Amino acid sequence: MNFFDAVGGEPTFRKLVDEFYAGVATDPLLRPLYPEEDLGPAAERLTLFLVQYWGGPNTYSAQRGHPRLRMRHAPFRVGPAERDAWLLHMRRAVDSLDLPPDQHATLWDYLERAAYFMVNTMDDG
Ligand code: HEM
Repeated sequence: MNFFDAVGGEPTFRKLVDEFYAGVATDPLLRPLYPEEDLGPAAERLTLFLVQYWGGPNTYSAQRGHPRLRMRHAPFRVGPAERDAWLLHMRRAVDSLDLPPDQHATLWDYLERAAYFMVNTMDDG
């Protein structure tokens, strides 16, 4: 069984991303980065990406093509402060899933590394 199935499939990733975006919606640093008024489409893209990454259906790439996530984040300012805010909301979201410790660690380690990788400016202001 792959990780996607082991953690409960798509509903688990939907819950993760819903919890995450509930935090983003109220975040004064992150919310202005999102170009659309409705965060729903952005939440859908992140959900489909994570589903695909962990071994679920490849709907993300069918709709969006190759992820190229660093390139897709280039238009947005992702400095250390944005990364830490992103990780704060993501940590709360991962915790809300109540996964067994090994699954929690696997998911969190990936998200933390991915967030560090997405930083595109070291400028703190
Ligand atoms: C898109 C911010 C990290 C996955 C976006 C967008 C913003 C953003 C503003 C555009 C919203 C939209 O989709 O319309 C950030 C910030 C991060 C971060 C501030 C802090 C480190 C990550 C990480 C991942 C990720 C770590 C993956 C694990 C995605 C995906 C999209 C996206 C899949 C949609 C790409 C597309 O198909 O267009 N992000 N992001 N992001 N982000 Fe992030």
